[in-house]
Amino acid sequence: MEKLLTKTILILSAGLEAIPIIQKAKSMGCYVVVLDGYESAPGIKYADDLIISSTFDVAGSVEKAKNYSQNKRTLDGVMSAGHDAPHTVAHIAHALALPGVPVATAEMAVDKVAMKDKFAKDGVAIPWYSSVDDFQHLQQLVKQHGLPLVIKPVDGRGARGVLRLSDQVDLEWAYNYSVSQSGRGQVMVERFLSGPQISTESMVINGQTLTPGFSDRNYELMDKFAPFIIENGGDLPSFLSQDLQSRVKQTVHQAAMSLGVTMGVVKGDVVVNEGVPHIIEITTRLSGGYFCSHEIPLNTGVDFVGCVIKSALGEKVLEEELTPKYQKSVCQRYMFPEKGVVKNITGVDLIKHRNEVELCEMRVEIGEKLAELDNHTKRTGVIIVMGSDRQNAQNNAVSAINSIKIDLV
Ligand SMILES: Nc1ncnc2c1ncn2[C@@H]1O[C@H](COP(=O)(O)OP(=O)(O)O)[C@@H](O)[C@H]1O
Ligand SMILES: [Mg+2]
Repeated sequence: MEKLLTKTILILSAGLEAIPIIQKAKSMGCYVVVLDGYESAPGIKYADDLIISSTFDVAGSVEKAKNYSQNKRTLDGVMSAGHDAPHTVAHIAHALALPGVPVATAEMAVDKVAMKDKFAKDGVAIPWYSSVDDFQHLQQLVKQHGLPLVIKPVDGRGARGVLRLSDQVDLEWAYNYSVSQSGRGQVMVERFLSGPQISTESMVINGQTLTPGFSDRNYELMDKFAPFIIENGGDLPSFLSQDLQSRVKQTVHQAAMSLGVTMGVVKGDVVVNEGVPHIIEITTRLSGGYFCSHEIPLNTGVDFVGCVIKSALGEKVLEEELTPKYQKSVCQRYMFPEKGVVKNITGVDLIKHRNEVELCEMRVEIGEKLAELDNHTKRTGVIIVMGSDRQNAQNNAVSAINSIKIDLV
């Protein structure tokens, strides 16, 4: 990729998963400014400069970015990394006249009811859904529509407060819990759709949606963690037929056009229910979990993050840059906490040296108290491994995770 030496990019945020994206922008020659609410965020040391602001304080972040661009160094682009505030990114882009999606598009991406209303209007396949006014309303909806349903915050992230409602779940507890996880105190319900779950990551260029990122999501632990919906990584390439994969991609394109995505990244959560792809949600930011920075390039040879950085800077991205060169087998798996206080962690250095291990990141420290898992942020570690085929990659993942021991007291 050519050097973009003169360009300055603002990246929200500087969390752990932002590090490879910051590093990528640096390797392309960019001057990287990060915006984060924490002065101790781990990505800061990889960047050139820092704006301290909560990424969820939209007005404050816009003001500070504007000040920075006017008084310190002109910003040429803005994007998010390992972080879920696409609306803040869109507002900054709008205020500074930088490349980006319309503000209204990004606002719909952080309001699941508004998003579903638009999809319904445009005929994008989605599960039945309804906003929930209060607990009595939820009871009525369950009576009318039956179970299983999913309850979730309208403004949720990282599966916080997302619960599968079945006969075994205390409805009042679920309602209160889900509300407590919503910044706005607002929840919605949807029909729970069974079937293969897919993560997609695409870029919209010239009205086309190109989707090099396509992973089967692993929900083997759904029953164990019920009613919480906890994903345990993913497998690439997908086991779906080429035809079904094309239909998933077409549905993501429809969803992207429905929300008015004019350019840049689209991350999708899709369920293939009875052979028909349904959109759970899409958003206009890079994925977390190292999907964009590790899994897509390892699987396809596509430098996805590089393309998104270029696009955020208003540089042209070619279709061929987003076209998979191959389909290598990649497996991502997470580590899950048992209850207790961490006494010792062993085995990590050894497995990091295995050829097939591309990433091994522990998210716990000695002395840390581990609680029961109720959302994705509490997983204790993640690994990404390669294999000669799907089964081999999965075996390598299990073998690596089994070699890591977390002793608890
Ligand atoms: N209606 C549904 N049917 C099946 N699975 C669902 C449904 N809603 C959510 N899920 C699962 O739960 C995950 C988290 O829900 P999502 O709406 O994407 O919230 P978040 O913003 O927290 O990611 C989804 O990615 C999907 O795997
Ligand atoms: Mg989601």
